[in-house]
Amino acid sequence: MDTYYTKDISLPWRRAVVSVDQFKKPDIDEIFALADRLSVGRTMPLTGKSIINLFYEPSTRTSSSFYAAMTRLGGSVIPINEVNYSSVTKGETLEDTIRTLESFTDALVLRHYDEDATERAVSVASIPIINAGNGAGEHPTQALLDLYTISKERDGLNGLNVTLMGDLKHGRTVHSLTKLLRMYDVKINLVSPPELSLPRFYLHKNDTEHRELGEVIADTDILYVTRVQKERFFDELEIDFSYSVTRSDMDLAKTNLVLMHPLPRVGEIPIELDSDPRSAYFRQVKYGLHVRMALLVALIGRD
Ligand code: NCD
Repeated sequence: MDTYYTKDISLPWRRAVVSVDQFKKPDIDEIFALADRLSVGRTMPLTGKSIINLFYEPSTRTSSSFYAAMTRLGGSVIPINEVNYSSVTKGETLEDTIRTLESFTDALVLRHYDEDATERAVSVASIPIINAGNGAGEHPTQALLDLYTISKERDGLNGLNVTLMGDLKHGRTVHSLTKLLRMYDVKINLVSPPELSLPRFYLHKNDTEHRELGEVIADTDILYVTRVQKERFFDELEIDFSYSVTRSDMDLAKTNLVLMHPLPRVGEIPIELDSDPRSAYFRQVKYGLHVRMALLVALIGRD
């Protein structure tokens, strides 16, 4: 399958969130400051507004996180999580679905298995579209919440040594996160088998590639682990690859390591590590709620 990369990044993110390429540092500062404010406030700036969650792929966290974010801000949500029961099964095009649904709502959160789906939706929509994952492409809102998590856990984003481990080829959260991290003074280490290495498009000359976590664990400040995206393997070789962060890895790691995972995990981090204060993946979910609240307010909070 050809890999599709977002083409048009000139689109302002307040009109539609397609790719992290649309964000500059001041935008990120603004979103994070808003997330800070909304995490403590009890305001309802989106009363009377609604979003539609249109999900063509499974989701627990992202759809419920947007749902919770919207309702906490006073707004409402039309969830279409089971497109199997919708007119999609009758052969409706994505474009027609979007043009129909936009009459009912102020913004649409879209997860789709095609990498060009968000841009197709944006090309016909007059309301903001938020990319909640476009195949093996990007997952910009997850990457923003990952970056926010790092900034909260480490009190800043510069001077960090970040190790990304797992399926770096198909992992859309990693694709978006690498691009955001490059805006800061961050060293990136990549740990994966060769078959699942980060596509050249996302690679930077200062990155180092490794096969074993042990090669970099002692120097790592942030360890970001992802699952093997089995559903994306299509016609490729079935890869028999499994890995797990172990207690002995944690013993070698820094005392202020931040262990992250976009979740769901399927064995990459054993539950025995949940009680380690360095395990930040459930705090990451909470930070995500605040970042999504901020994005919703920024996109549809003004008339
Ligand atoms: C991720 C995704 O959908 O890409 N999940 C999420 O949104 N937190 C990661 C994954 O599915 O592995």
